[in-house]
Amino acid sequence: MHKKLQRFISDYQPIIEDKMNHLLAATNVSDTLKSSMAYSVNAGGKRIRPLLVLATLEDLGVQSDDAVTVACAVELIHTYSLIHDDLPCMDDDDYRRGKLTNHKVYGESVAVLAGDALQTLAFEALATLQDTSAEDALQLIQLLAKASGSAGMVGGQMLDIEGESKRLSLMELENVHVNKTGALLSFSIEAGAILAGLHQQKTAKLKAFAWNIGLAFQIQDDILDITSTTEALGKPVGSDISSDKSTYPSLLGLDGAKERLAEHHRLAGEALAFLEKDQPLLGLFADYIVDRQS
Ligand code: IPE
Ligand code: IPE
Ligand code: MG
Ligand code: MG
Ligand code: MG
Repeated sequence: MHKKLQRFISDYQPIIEDKMNHLLAATNVSDTLKSSMAYSVNAGGKRIRPLLVLATLEDLGVQSDDAVTVACAVELIHTYSLIHDDLPCMDDDDYRRGKLTNHKVYGESVAVLAGDALQTLAFEALATLQDTSAEDALQLIQLLAKASGSAGMVGGQMLDIEGESKRLSLMELENVHVNKTGALLSFSIEAGAILAGLHQQKTAKLKAFAWNIGLAFQIQDDILDITSTTEALGKPVGSDISSDKSTYPSLLGLDGAKERLAEHHRLAGEALAFLEKDQPLLGLFADYIVDRQS
């Protein structure tokens, strides 16, 4: 990983994690529910989505006191999506981020509720922004709702289930990936643009960047499901094959999937030209997303 990116990640990961725990601490609920929520929040993800919110602002040269809260909101949604994704009725996986999955520790009913509660906590956080106009806050809430719901992540998860045991066309599979994974990644970048007050034309470039890294991210996830090890990933490999999922490697073969990955990486890089920067952080993130081994 590039040193500049490494420094950015190690500077901001603890700030994101502190803030998420602060948001959790404010919830006055059953100890079991709270502990189940905290278990997944603190299981140690890469924090790519919240870091992308902050990296977008950094590349645009703008600061916002609300950036970390918005960053945490998307990570809370992501964490909820993983708890539900691992459930026996979904991907039925026992390990996540190198630890037992939430339902393996707390049972299915608590895991479902922890996911639900993390989701609503994300929106509560967005509804209490201090440094953002009411209009922008409302836009962020609407965007996150759309990116998380039936027109975004949840819709993509549904298409993913419907794609089991049948061969999707490449366009259909692209649609699954763009929704189940791309939507939250795109939100992260668009949220940074909103907080920065960026005008529409430049936002469109960032959206093109986000679309390409969203797809690239899930293609690499599909590749790693085949080529990596459970130890390196912290989650089971072969999960897609055992549930007979449509993935890029299952459709195009491993080499074909890698070619697609490289193409989306290239397009993402091109979309950042407007920043007129030598090494935009977002570009380094794109490199990391395609090269990552976990
Ligand atoms: C995993 O996302 C789920 C997908 C959308 C492919 P990440 O690879 O970002 O998971 P963590 O948060 O780092 O564990
Ligand atoms: C899930 O995709 C994306 C989500 C919306 C959670 P995967 O099912 O491929 O994610 P992993 O491989 O379990 O992390
Ligand atoms: Mg899944
Ligand atoms: Mg899964
Ligand atoms: Mg996967």
